[in-house]
Amino acid sequence: MKVAVVMGGASPEHAVSIASGNGIVRAVELLGHTAIPLLIDADGNWTDGQHEAIEILQACEVTIPALHGEGGEDGRLQGFLEQLHIPYVGSGIAASAIGLDKHLTKALLSAHGIPVTPGITVRGADLTDTELVLQQLKAAELEFPLFVKPVNGGSSFGVTRAIDPVSLEAAIADAAIIDRHVLIEREMAGREIDLAVLEFPDGRVETAPALEIHADPRQPFFNATAKYDSSRTRFSVPALLEDGLPERLRRTALDVFEVLGCAGLARVDFFVPADGEPVVNEINTFPGFTPASQFPRMFAAAGMSYAEVVDTLIRTAVA
Ligand code: DAL
Ligand code: MG
Repeated sequence: MKVAVVMGGASPEHAVSIASGNGIVRAVELLGHTAIPLLIDADGNWTDGQHEAIEILQACEVTIPALHGEGGEDGRLQGFLEQLHIPYVGSGIAASAIGLDKHLTKALLSAHGIPVTPGITVRGADLTDTELVLQQLKAAELEFPLFVKPVNGGSSFGVTRAIDPVSLEAAIADAAIIDRHVLIEREMAGREIDLAVLEFPDGRVETAPALEIHADPRQPFFNATAKYDSSRTRFSVPALLEDGLPERLRRTALDVFEVLGCAGLARVDFFVPADGEPVVNEINTFPGFTPASQFPRMFAAAGMSYAEVVDTLIRTAVA
């Protein structure tokens, strides 16, 4: 089979996507298929040229959009592929677009009774009116420390832990560079647990054992440095969780997958407070996919190799 692997893209996660894409290319070759890597540059252009890229994509049986963030994980590439009638791995247009948008994800999950991190979304002129933002935070009963994030983003780029009004103002300005919609959320002290969801060719959807993130203690949170540039961040899989919690997280992750209308794969990230309800932090419809990333590690704990996960993704996409 000829498998196109699209990577790169205009999002701040360009380099992460190339690492994910290269891992997938190696797995596709290992499976005995022909992998055709296609690069989208940091300006969002196909390096082969758009017409050539379309011809290459159409000559392949399936495309793997190994892109994170804007342009690739947000439904745009999925729409492009739909228009060309090209089968692809992962979620469709709507689930991808909603999944990358943390405001819409939370609205949809809340409407379905799935607990999410309390927060507010700030837009437009309000972004530079700190007094107004402080009033909105008060009305929503949100106190420092707070997490400030671009609504559409990934890998924690543009995310800051704000401890007072001065750092809040700077944090909003930073997040607004990535997206003019900014989320301000309550800090959820507790454990950070990820669940990986995979769809099989027969339509079954399964999770792998949960993973706990032990972020580099020198960093203020699991930020981009702790994610990609630290020898002190550790993951434990399976996470050691109290009785009943693995099943509860599993059910919630499957609910999130279903409510958003996802397909193929997703990673659902939770905060588990010491004494309270687990809440969904976010979903990634194309999670980090380097051999060291959480998603393949969780399935390794379920007995599936990286190549077997890629094989499942391909077979599900063409089923
Ligand atoms: N957005 C990054 C790649 C992740 O979910 O792992
Ligand atoms: Mg994310």
